Amino acid sequence: MACKKWYMGTNTKMYKTIAQTNQFISRLQELTFDIDRSSFELFVIPSFTTLESANRCRKDNLVKLGAQNMGWEEQGQYTGEISPLMLREVGCDLVMVGHSERRHIFMETDEMENKKVRCALDHGFTVLLCIGETEQEKGAGQSNEVLRRQIQLGLAGINEKDTARVWVAYEPVWAIGVNGKPVEIGYADEKLTYIRDCLKMEFGKGGEEIPVFYGGSVNAENALPLSRCKDINGLFIGRSAWDADNFNAIIRAVQDNREKCCLAK
Ligand code: PGA
Repeated sequence: MACKKWYMGTNTKMYKTIAQTNQFISRLQELTFDIDRSSFELFVIPSFTTLESANRCRKDNLVKLGAQNMGWEEQGQYTGEISPLMLREVGCDLVMVGHSERRHIFMETDEMENKKVRCALDHGFTVLLCIGETEQEKGAGQSNEVLRRQIQLGLAGINEKDTARVWVAYEPVWAIGVNGKPVEIGYADEKLTYIRDCLKMEFGKGGEEIPVFYGGSVNAENALPLSRCKDINGLFIGRSAWDADNFNAIIRAVQDNREKCCLAK
């Protein structure tokens, strides 16, 4: 594990009201204020309706604030969509694109994700592109092909300098959520390295620097072993992070271990 900057974040999906989100962010900040954000970044991606007040709860940039989705035009006849200008207005700095629930429940395609990625980058946001194979694709031995396609199509047309604002989360679809199967660490390790190789192939030096996270049933038991994967830069957590105290316990376990490893180098 390199002593590079580390990232930990959560997507609260369609959970948490405005009051619950405010309480969560306030508590998370209170518990983690001492952590040096230049080497350990925290981010929260709550529902659209909570963003404005969540932004007001933020102190000293302790937590980066993200949106779970975004329309790819500034305005227009797109009922139900939220534009980059609207997200900017409520204080977002990050836009998540292509979460598996968007791809598989709402039938978003790689071409749609790419429009969102490019639009978000054009509007100055950091983009978190989520990728991952389904169980069926894994069973058919197509995982690498799927990951490569999602990277190539999702990040198509990005210019070199914009890669500095791209993050990628590897979230195998079969590992996500209440019915998710925990990933084997060796499998995650192998796929994260494959993703790093694809990013290097696409973007050269820029691809080496793109932070790559693992997500999908991350919890207090597997967070530490996952954090030791060779090509990982962070963890993206759902259920196990929705209680700020639980999230902080995971953050501390990983942080302690990183400090020891970096000191030993
Ligand atoms: P989970 O969710 O940690 O609850 O499996 C992960 C995600 O959907 O990003």
